[in-house]
Amino acid sequence: MIWSCFCLLLCAHRDIQAAVRMLSAACLLLGFAPFLVHGVPPIWTQPEQVHLSYAGVPGSMVVTWTTFNKTESTVEYGLLGGRMFKLIAKGSSALFVDSGKEKRKMFIHRVTLIGLKPAATHVYHCGSDEGWSDVFSFTALNDSSSFSPRFALYGDLGNENPQSLSRLQKDTQMGMYDVILHIGDFAYDMHEDNARIGDEFMRQIQSIAAYVPYMTCPGNHESAYNFSNYRSRFSMPGQTESLWYSWDLGSAHIISFSTEVYFYLEFGLELIFKQYEWLKKDLEEANRPENRAVRPWIITMGHRPMYCSDDDQDDCTKFHSFVRLGRNDTKPPAPGLEDLFYRYGVDLELWAHEHTYERLWPVYGDKVYNGSADQPYVNPKAPVHIITGSAGCRERTDRFQPNPKAWSAFRSTDYGYSRMHIINASHIYLEQVSDDQVSRY
Ligand SMILES: [Fe+2]
Repeated sequence: MIWSCFCLLLCAHRDIQAAVRMLSAACLLLGFAPFLVHGVPPIWTQPEQVHLSYAGVPGSMVVTWTTFNKTESTVEYGLLGGRMFKLIAKGSSALFVDSGKEKRKMFIHRVTLIGLKPAATHVYHCGSDEGWSDVFSFTALNDSSSFSPRFALYGDLGNENPQSLSRLQKDTQMGMYDVILHIGDFAYDMHEDNARIGDEFMRQIQSIAAYVPYMTCPGNHESAYNFSNYRSRFSMPGQTESLWYSWDLGSAHIISFSTEVYFYLEFGLELIFKQYEWLKKDLEEANRPENRAVRPWIITMGHRPMYCSDDDQDDCTKFHSFVRLGRNDTKPPAPGLEDLFYRYGVDLELWAHEHTYERLWPVYGDKVYNGSADQPYVNPKAPVHIITGSAGCRERTDRFQPNPKAWSAFRSTDYGYSRMHIINASHIYLEQVSDDQVSRY
């Protein structure tokens, strides 16, 4: 430190080139070359990558952010229109060391706000006395089962070519959504460039994720180092480091799970069984008459679909999809999820991974089970599947097979994302936004 200050002072008062030459020689002689090469490391106490998630308990919200030096974890908040930062909540930070060559370190801060007034807009910032974030706001989720939440949902959004992001930013900041669901595949990929791609992606989505809960599930692009970037950066409900969990909103019970347990057996074959048992238990609970009466909709989200009509060789293009029918090549054989979801009356299954949009007719066992010929989605006799993985990433969009099976109802290769409105206990509205079409606000 002393030598660095000395260098600066001297350079300011003499001929610069001569001074640098003289000092370099002196420092080399004295063995201080590293000081001239590296300089003083910057201080990284400023919060960044701020994002929200719902803790699954009425009146709660989790604020998550990153600093590169260790600081305290504080959120100051209050009701919009009231005294700014009237309330204070404290949390903690966890050191995350990326497994890349540089072993970059960062601190992931988490603070859970509780006792929020449902449907009221709250203003907050996060950080510590060593640096505060910008001011953001969110509306606390309404915990009533008659609440009609509005969602944006998509998968496969990257740091490069995030085509839908600006439209999502505008939508979100106009207050169009209560929640965003990101159905796997982030950043492409979060671990790349020693996790700098993850940092930049989390900065990109701050413009939406700091305003509404950003609920996630893992995709194949998160697999590096056993999904460590995904598990460390997000804060979903439950105790599985965001891998599988469920929560309630309005008249829906929403289940998020990992399709990746079927594909990365090196991280533990037992995860398939663990998750399956958890799903079974969760579905049993959701189907108890008193629970299903209050929340009749059961909605799942997982990254890799059971069905699709894309022209790649992905799991969903095969009749024996691992996610759908399980794996027979493991010991013991691993159960798939189609029977389980059908048996417990799942209504809607949200997927991504294919960089397209595809809506299916109600389907089970590769067969169509429409409600009726005129109204296929009224009282359908099997779950409805939506694949929405074209938000935008460096891999561009995928293509379709020319002749899809009977369960394929509508297909689009446009970039875009989906909107879902759970209107009430009997109606859900879904629409697909094409980001390749002209803006119509
Ligand atoms: Fe994927």
